[in-house]
Amino acid sequence: MCGIFGYIGPREATSIVLDGIQKLEYRGYDSAGIAMINDGVLCHEKEVGKVSRLQEVVSAKNWETNLAIAHTRWATHGRPTQGNAHPHLDTQKKCAVVHNGIIENHDTVRHLLEKRGITCISDTDTEVIAHLIAYLYKGNFLRAVQRALPLLKGAFAIAVIHHAHPGEIVCAAKESPLAIGIGKGEMFVASDSGAFLKYTRRAIYLGASEVALLTEHGVEAFDAQFAPIEKKREELSHSVEEASKGDYQHFMLKEIHEQPQTLQNALLARFSRDYGTATLDNLNFSDEELKKVERIVILACGTSLHAGMIAAHMLEEKARIPVEVEISSEFRYKNPIVKDNTLAIAISQSGETADTLAAMRELREKGARILGICNMQGSTMAREVDSCLFLRAGPEIGVAASKTFTSQLIVLSLLSLHFARMRQMSQQEGVLFIDALTKLPEQIRQVLLGSGQIIEIAKKYAAYENFFYLGRRYMYPTALEGALKLKEIAYVNANGYPAGEMKHGPIALINEMCPTVAFCADTYTYPKMLSNLMEVKARGGKVLAIAPGGASDIAAIADDVIWVPPTLDELAPVASTIVGQLFSYYVAKERGTEIDQPRNLAKSVTVE
Ligand code: G6P
Repeated sequence: MCGIFGYIGPREATSIVLDGIQKLEYRGYDSAGIAMINDGVLCHEKEVGKVSRLQEVVSAKNWETNLAIAHTRWATHGRPTQGNAHPHLDTQKKCAVVHNGIIENHDTVRHLLEKRGITCISDTDTEVIAHLIAYLYKGNFLRAVQRALPLLKGAFAIAVIHHAHPGEIVCAAKESPLAIGIGKGEMFVASDSGAFLKYTRRAIYLGASEVALLTEHGVEAFDAQFAPIEKKREELSHSVEEASKGDYQHFMLKEIHEQPQTLQNALLARFSRDYGTATLDNLNFSDEELKKVERIVILACGTSLHAGMIAAHMLEEKARIPVEVEISSEFRYKNPIVKDNTLAIAISQSGETADTLAAMRELREKGARILGICNMQGSTMAREVDSCLFLRAGPEIGVAASKTFTSQLIVLSLLSLHFARMRQMSQQEGVLFIDALTKLPEQIRQVLLGSGQIIEIAKKYAAYENFFYLGRRYMYPTALEGALKLKEIAYVNANGYPAGEMKHGPIALINEMCPTVAFCADTYTYPKMLSNLMEVKARGGKVLAIAPGGASDIAAIADDVIWVPPTLDELAPVASTIVGQLFSYYVAKERGTEIDQPRNLAKSVTVE
């Protein structure tokens, strides 16, 4: 995890790199640091907390430099303290390193260094890199980094500066993303090209075990054997979308309220009502290829995994294709069986989740074709997959996903329709599906207008420390997503469960102190859900139901009901999830937790 940003060129570098790491805060925000060279002296500063804290400290110093590197951290090894923050320096403070990823053999390297009288002072895996480079340095900075790299195991990206080389940044990547921005007389390096997009649109991406030397005049890249290589220069096409909170108190609330528009964007020009089908023009697979698909494997983590679970139901039910949903972090260590005609669908908002990337690479190695569902153009996923459908949700700043989840559901619904219409779904059924899809933005507007009631209900439930979130069929992954939201932003224990499984153990936990949030909008299983809720009530549990308008019998069972507009079962997760998002948001607000950047989390999880 963590974000790296470096700059070399004629402009004042400190403000550029601090601005750069602020854009990368979605990768972690527990501490931040900067290093630069001024008159041959390596200066650095680190602070616990957000980048804004570091900015305050650095601005008081009036530093002026043309070269700097900076870092925003999500702790993997060692607590988020000033000492563990990056950059890390060697004993003599000659070189400074910022690092994203994990050095798996840091203990071994640490012992090797100790035998040579070099002692690490932090708890991090990173510090050994600085000592190693300093130890191997014999006047050629680039060569010292190149010689250090084969001694390091793991997946990582680094940027390094050396006091004796004030015109050079050396960077390297091994299975972690690192983009180099090529400006006019200036160079940038960042964990994500979006961070330097406002300065340049020309970039190269470092691949496995590649090293690059940046000077203000340009970049030289080398492979693992130190041989120079020609990297393909890419012209970045994605736009610089600066996000602002507008009148909202939090990005998350703004993003929740953007959903009528983001759903519309996800649908735009992607269906033909006349033919009752989806028109996914950017899908790089021919109809022949798609007709031959016999099995789908969905790979994802976190919220994207829940979108995948909903899509799996839909694909099986509508298109009659067997689908397996795999948690990327588990799947990557399986030895998957890939038969001909297997399609993998990798779902990731960021397109940078390390486990999902690794899982999809594993499947590709074994012959599967990969379709990405992603929000971030230019991300590693978008570059590596055979075809990518973008969410068009705009930047999502709140760490807990909201609008991107519902956009994933829309894109996956269109994809299911596409597959289904190629198989047995009738045109008439397709038209009904599209009509229901196109009604969603307006229905979500109605849900958002009901926020007042959700605020009052959230106040009523905010003090509880344990919840169950229950649902069946399409509402089961919806319940999982609802529970995840409450955990992420309100720090409340919420157990997402299939309602039918409660009897097999968890019901033992039900009492008056453990309310149940019941997702009831799956009409097919609605009567069963009512029985399950009666069982909860019979044991003294409170019930907050999220149910479709018109289903009046739930009101007699539940303590509170939030109504959602009726729709097809497979599309019901959208409105129900948005109610769940608002409920979590207002519970979190009531509890005073940090909503946009919750403790311990990061938006993009780039380590396994
Ligand atoms: C992190 C974020 C979640 C997100 C998950 C998967 O845990 O905090 O909101 O769902 O990563 O991210 P992805 O970018 O792959 O969708």
